Amino acid sequence: MAHTILIVDDELNIRRVLERAFAKEGYQVQTAEGGHQALRLLDETPCDLMLTDVVMPDMTGLELLKRARQKHPNLQVILMTAFGTIPTAVEAMRAGAFDFLTKPIDMETLRKVVRNALREPATAQPTQRKPPKRKQVTFIGESPAVKQILETVERVAEARTNVLITGESGTGKELIARMLHERSSRANKPFVAVSCAAIPETLLEVELFGAVRGAYTGADTDRIGKFEAANGGTLFLDEIGDIPPLIQVKLLRVLQEREIERLGSNTPIPIDVRLVAATNCDLQAAVDAGTFRSDLFYRLQVVHIHLPPLRERREDIPLLANHFLKKFAEENGRALREISSEAMQILQNACWKGNVRELENIIESAVVLSPPDATVLLPEHLPPALRL
Ligand SMILES: Nc1ncnc2c1ncn2[C@@H]1O[C@H](COP(=O)(O)OP(=O)(O)OP(=O)(O)O)[C@@H](O)[C@H]1O
Ligand SMILES: [Mg+2]
Repeated sequence: MAHTILIVDDELNIRRVLERAFAKEGYQVQTAEGGHQALRLLDETPCDLMLTDVVMPDMTGLELLKRARQKHPNLQVILMTAFGTIPTAVEAMRAGAFDFLTKPIDMETLRKVVRNALREPATAQPTQRKPPKRKQVTFIGESPAVKQILETVERVAEARTNVLITGESGTGKELIARMLHERSSRANKPFVAVSCAAIPETLLEVELFGAVRGAYTGADTDRIGKFEAANGGTLFLDEIGDIPPLIQVKLLRVLQEREIERLGSNTPIPIDVRLVAATNCDLQAAVDAGTFRSDLFYRLQVVHIHLPPLRERREDIPLLANHFLKKFAEENGRALREISSEAMQILQNACWKGNVRELENIIESAVVLSPPDATVLLPEHLPPALRL
């Protein structure tokens, strides 16, 4: 049976153009000029997908989405937004919208997004998401900041929404990315991590999207890209701030159209990945400076998780230190079981420019370098520089 699409826009012209285009494709199309009329129509006739404008006189697209989904939880919703209302559209994604497109609407992209949306079941509201299934990776910490981060992880893990993780080097960004994966229904599919730092454009393009034989000098076989390798699972793009402009455009297209083309090929390959991106640079500043596309930025940070530096959550230091002590003592067959209060004092007061990674390394070397019979980690086991 033909899928039913409801088009909601206060501009008659847009309704007409879209109605004609989708009717021609064989969809059953209805139109409404505002939120109230749309809600009435939805009550009268079942509908698979709603395509709605964001700014309309009687109701915003966001409100319409929320009200419509309350009664019709399986309705897929796509928003059409002007540049100025992108933040609203992002909020709509958090509330369960399938996607948003910026005006002027590119019909080819819209067709693909609609097709993809009709293939996938609508995602539930965050609060209705299934509880986590298994726990493997643990993120140690009890500070208010960490508690809030862990709550966010549990809340969004199941959704397909893109997540942007920011924070200084060594704060645990990759660990959080792995948690998001392990706590999702994608857990038994691949988790693929790619560092985008300082990779030349063409190499990164091949790395991400793959290439067919002969696409470039030296390409003597077909190459699978990381998107394909991660299909069904999670793709973790580290150092996202470093990706060159051409790849930014390609990435944006993949996120919208959910398909890739290998370099040198015109055959689209459908892709279902959850994208988690991380950066330790200020992406907003890069957007302001014009080196990072704002449309890509908005799409990447539908959910934003910021990891504060360790010096701003010092209450986590004893927990982390004891965790690492136990881990490395076991790994190295050492008798160390506790950290003396003087040593802990030093750890608590250090500046931790390298954050948790630095703490982990220091405990590891303290364990390895301590006398084999030592049971308590003492200040003398710590590097002198820490004590300054
Ligand atoms: N809260 C935590 N609990 C346990 N281990 C942690 C925690 N945070 C970080 N780590 C550990 O610290 C190390 C650094 O973490 P990770 O690689 O995730 O940092 P990152 O933010 O990705 O750093 P970079 O920006 O340098 O890539 C890892 O070994 C990780 O397991
Ligand atoms: Mg990392």
